[in-house]
Amino acid sequence: MVTGDRLISVEGLVKSFGATRALRGVDLEVREGEVLALLGPNGAGKTTLVRVLATLLRPDSGGARVAGYDVVAEAEAVRPLIGLTGQFAAVDELLTGRENLELVGRFYHLDEDERRRRATAVLERFDLLAAGDRLVKTYSGGMRRRLDVGAGLIGGARVLFLDEPTTGLDPRNRSDVWDFVDELVAGGTTVLLTTQYMEEAERLADRIAVIDSGSLIAAGTATELKLQMGGDVLEARVADAVDLERCAATVAAVAGGEPRLDRDLRTVTVPTTGSTPVLLAVGERLQAAGVGLEDLGIRHPSLDDVFLSLTGNGGPPATTRGNGAAGSLPVAAPRTAEQAERAAPPPAPRRDPVGDVVGVTGRNLRRLVRTPRLLAITAIQPALLLVLFRYVLGGAVHIPGGSYVDYVVPAVFLEAVMIGGMATAIGLADDFGTGIFDRLRSLPIVRYAVLAGRTLADLTRSVFALALMVGLGLLVGFGFHGSLPSILAGLALVIFFGYCFSWVYATIGLLTKDPETAQVAGILPFFILVFASSAIVPVETMPSWLQPFAEYQPVSVTIDATRALMQGEPTGTWVLQSLAWAVGILAVFSTIAVQLYRRSSL
Ligand SMILES: Nc1ncnc2c1ncn2[C@@H]1O[C@H](COP(=O)(O)OP(=O)(O)OP(=O)(O)O)[C@@H](O)[C@H]1O
Ligand SMILES: [Mg+2]
Repeated sequence: MVTGDRLISVEGLVKSFGATRALRGVDLEVREGEVLALLGPNGAGKTTLVRVLATLLRPDSGGARVAGYDVVAEAEAVRPLIGLTGQFAAVDELLTGRENLELVGRFYHLDEDERRRRATAVLERFDLLAAGDRLVKTYSGGMRRRLDVGAGLIGGARVLFLDEPTTGLDPRNRSDVWDFVDELVAGGTTVLLTTQYMEEAERLADRIAVIDSGSLIAAGTATELKLQMGGDVLEARVADAVDLERCAATVAAVAGGEPRLDRDLRTVTVPTTGSTPVLLAVGERLQAAGVGLEDLGIRHPSLDDVFLSLTGNGGPPATTRGNGAAGSLPVAAPRTAEQAERAAPPPAPRRDPVGDVVGVTGRNLRRLVRTPRLLAITAIQPALLLVLFRYVLGGAVHIPGGSYVDYVVPAVFLEAVMIGGMATAIGLADDFGTGIFDRLRSLPIVRYAVLAGRTLADLTRSVFALALMVGLGLLVGFGFHGSLPSILAGLALVIFFGYCFSWVYATIGLLTKDPETAQVAGILPFFILVFASSAIVPVETMPSWLQPFAEYQPVSVTIDATRALMQGEPTGTWVLQSLAWAVGILAVFSTIAVQLYRRSSL
């Protein structure tokens, strides 16, 4: 149901990654209700183009609009209109199929009933209803892909981007996805899909744009592209592969075109405008040359032939290819039409910051509960520290007027929370490399929700570890001597400081973008701040050059405040100093982290 209005327009799009020029000035348009297939070999720039259109990548120059909105400057207006199924799986393994779908529905700001209804419909449509309440990690590759395609649809997008939607699917599942695309299009959705399968492009697309090495080299309907081949194809299959080169030379001499060899199929193909006389001449010449044939014939070109001739391997030289095809590219609509589109200001997107944060937090909490080993290890680390400090150092360190166990246990409380925060760095870095992050960034959610949801969920784990340390502390002889409100205030201070500090880890996660590096880097602030503090030994016993740092740094004042609160001793200005540090750290690092996240996502 192509209505003819321009829904996507791309002009002069250029994007480089270092020295790699992924897009070299792409012009393209897609009309409302149309299916456009972007056909190209590996590395052609298909995914890069989709990522620009899905508001995930900032182009170097040129621009693109979806429904009249600029994908960079008005990304927030674009996101509610689009659905993305990226090339790589963007489903969460630790959620069920249904949870995955409902989560994406929540980020499109559908109400609870609606997202449940749509999730059921998608599960049903993709034959996943029976598996809907199983964790995705138990799904087969095809099931994941189907769920992934389904998740792209849940928001009822006006434009759907499908990056190689059927790669890895068996023929039955592939044709199922095709049928589904047909249904969507019948319902008015516009689809831009990428594919390496000519058959798929021909089957699904109203128009096909062929992309190679970052340039669009042809566009048109399948028939138009075939016509561009300028006639038929002569194909000869030799009986013995050793004859292939000789056969190619003979065929080329007679038919006049550039031959293409397929060693697996033992075939030579060449474009030809001639018919029977050419065929007979080729047959005679091959027979005379002693080349045994299994088959010889003239057929209409397949899209394969077009694709291969356009993207090299037998096609004309690149320069003439580019120029020759440019004439068939869609002509950009006159400026006035665009201005008319632009006249409409972007609608205020529906915002639900609280719902967004709750959604991301919920997702991370579910993951947390479903990885009990991680939960256990979070608690084992501070427990080990506690036992080591208590029994290994305990006898060696003299605390004037007090016991070492009362001195060190409050420090372990803070360490437990800080160790919990390290998981924030690793978790964020881990998400960063997956398609999940891409999907989240293409959704109409507030930018800080992904970070706030992560830090809040990790805080829960820290509180769990803290509770265990309180129990363990009591077991090894720690005594709370303060009043209950004062003890609770101490615990609250630890939790608050730990939460603020987890933004340092969020920043580390976003800077390192890799879980292993994040893990190593995350130890550094912990190491420096905990060991050069009053956590384990009194500051007075440290070298004099270290004392000023050790006395006033955030971890020291927080531990000093916590100790005093737990023991019912005067806190001096420690509580205030700790709060000031915590708020300062939160302000600085949440700003940096949100900026880093924004920079990675427009
Ligand atoms: N983040 C990146 N950093 C560096 N180079 C990149 C990045 N993304 C893409 N490229 C490069 O840009 C070029 C185009 O890549 P792209 O992923 O768009 O190709 P594609 O057509 O989707 O290929 P495929 O069919 O293999 O998925 C490739 O040379 C690729 O190596
Ligand atoms: Mg790709």
